[in-house]
Amino acid sequence: MSEFAIEAHALTKAFGKARAVDGVDLAVRTGGVYAILGPNGAGKTTTVRMLSTLLPPDGGTARVLGHDVVTEADRVRGRISLTGQFASLDQDLTGRENLVLLGRLFGFRGREAHDRADELLAVFELTDAANRPVKTYSGGMRRRVDIAAGLVVQPDLMFLDEPTTGLDPRSRNQVWQIVRALVAAGTTVLLTTQYLDEADQLADRIAVIDHGRVIAEGTSGELQGVRRLGRAAPAAHRPGRPRPGPGPARRPARRGRPPRRRTGDLDRASLRRGRRAGVRRAGRAVPRRRRDR
Ligand SMILES: Nc1ncnc2c1ncn2[C@@H]1O[C@H](COP(=O)(O)OP(=O)(O)OP(=O)(O)O)[C@@H](O)[C@H]1O
Ligand SMILES: [Mg+2]
Repeated sequence: MSEFAIEAHALTKAFGKARAVDGVDLAVRTGGVYAILGPNGAGKTTTVRMLSTLLPPDGGTARVLGHDVVTEADRVRGRISLTGQFASLDQDLTGRENLVLLGRLFGFRGREAHDRADELLAVFELTDAANRPVKTYSGGMRRRVDIAAGLVVQPDLMFLDEPTTGLDPRSRNQVWQIVRALVAAGTTVLLTTQYLDEADQLADRIAVIDHGRVIAEGTSGELQGVRRLGRAAPAAHRPGRPRPGPGPARRPARRGRPPRRRTGDLDRASLRRGRRAGVRRAGRAVPRRRRDR
């Protein structure tokens, strides 16, 4: 198995004159969870779309599971799964019908497709809702069935684009458990998030992205300097912009504690202060020991 599940170099994508992704380098080791952390419009989804072969890059290169995302897109697609930011299932079909349909598309025979669907519904605690149309599901249930849909065949690499945005703490926790179980079963996970605590809790390494660029990269511990600085000097409120609320940007993270911290959006001012203070610039991932989970 290749040491790196993802290797991207100088990845670029522009929409008109706006550079959504502006020279992103990523090195994601096989196994574990890698988080791309950034605020709205940072370029997270665009990066994921390029890495998952949905969008051709304007510049740069990316290899996913050893294959070039442009010239070997089919080989990449055969081994990855993507759960997008917005639900992609047929909302009029039931949860079970959606999963059976996908199973059939993957080549399962009728009985096998039903068995796999039932297995996933049980694992994702959706058995009771299995025969209801997906459009009647709560947000948390939709996210779970969305992720289940990506696991009809277990992929080597799973992209989860903002898997917990908008979820309540209980549903968020369920998704976190799913991510941990996926990794334990051998899938590498790349997830995007706007939440510092989510990246902190789940990820082995984090790339902080803003305005299409990776502005810091490292383990949660290595990136804590950004948050300490944020706490020491709260962001000044600029007229016309939302007043920054309290959040993890001002609290040092503590490993191994239950996720009691409040969720908060990434604070751009903290990131800038961190950069000025010399928080390590993005670079190639350095070898590290896998954290015990
Ligand atoms: N298809 C598109 N056409 C034009 N502009 C786009 C398109 N897709 C993305 N953009 C722009 O590219 C930039 C990055 O968008 P992207 O969706 O990658 O951000 P994001 O980090 O995923 O944000 P969010 O957290 O809101 O999902 C934004 O300015 C967005 O408006
Ligand atoms: Mg997005």
